[in-house]
Amino acid sequence: MQRQDARKPLVVGNWKMNGTLGANEPLLAALRAGLDAALLTGVEVAVLPPYPYLAQVSAWLGETPLSWGAQDVAAYAEGAYTGEVSAAMLRDLGCRWVTVGHSERRALLGETSEQVAVKIEQALKAGLQPIACVGETLADREQGLTESVIAAQLAPLARLACVGMPGQLVLAYEPVWAIGTGRTASPEQAQAVHAFIRAALSAAGFDGAALRILYGGSVKAASAPALFAMPDINGGLIGGASLVADEFIAICRSAASA
Ligand code: 13P
Repeated sequence: MQRQDARKPLVVGNWKMNGTLGANEPLLAALRAGLDAALLTGVEVAVLPPYPYLAQVSAWLGETPLSWGAQDVAAYAEGAYTGEVSAAMLRDLGCRWVTVGHSERRALLGETSEQVAVKIEQALKAGLQPIACVGETLADREQGLTESVIAAQLAPLARLACVGMPGQLVLAYEPVWAIGTGRTASPEQAQAVHAFIRAALSAAGFDGAALRILYGGSVKAASAPALFAMPDINGGLIGGASLVADEFIAICRSAASA
């Protein structure tokens, strides 16, 4: 089956709270050199640096087909919200993407699925493409609660304006037990949850066929090909391996040839 354009694989490097101006330079130079136009016909690639490095990333990647974004966005448009960064500011810095509801923010900062939905709305209004993250903990999985936990995380998305905007919203399935642990979900485990997410969002009115669902959680060059071969896995959200140029480029290459 021909892949729909909206389902072109997408690989996103989430740098989390890592990097320095100096350390980012060789990484960005390597990405610019290693992710050539031929490779990028088969995969879209983006990086998400910490906010202070967005300008640096835009200077390095501005003239390339690579895109960039942020790791979070305010739930407010503008005003007296000390420490927050608005969606419009991110657009100003050339961002195309923003992750919302990453499990680290849900766990460490108590971010709720309702707040995540508001952030998605702010992002869409400013012309950003949100990447909404969902995933269960190990305890959830062991108690057989994976689907109900994810259904609850998805529920507030059903009332979003982007329900009728195919391709705008991207989902990322990141099982909490696989993040930074070196323990990847098996391709079959990930596929089952991706299919569940696609069905749940289709039932909520989204165009399921146009929805990109990324897998994240200890993806490495070695594990990427089998994950990306699954029919409902449309790319990856890569943490640790996105800081190692060769590893990240190899992951992008397997997405392009999936
Ligand atoms: P790791 O790839 O380091 O497990 O991180 C995954 C992740 O949380 C990406 O958002």
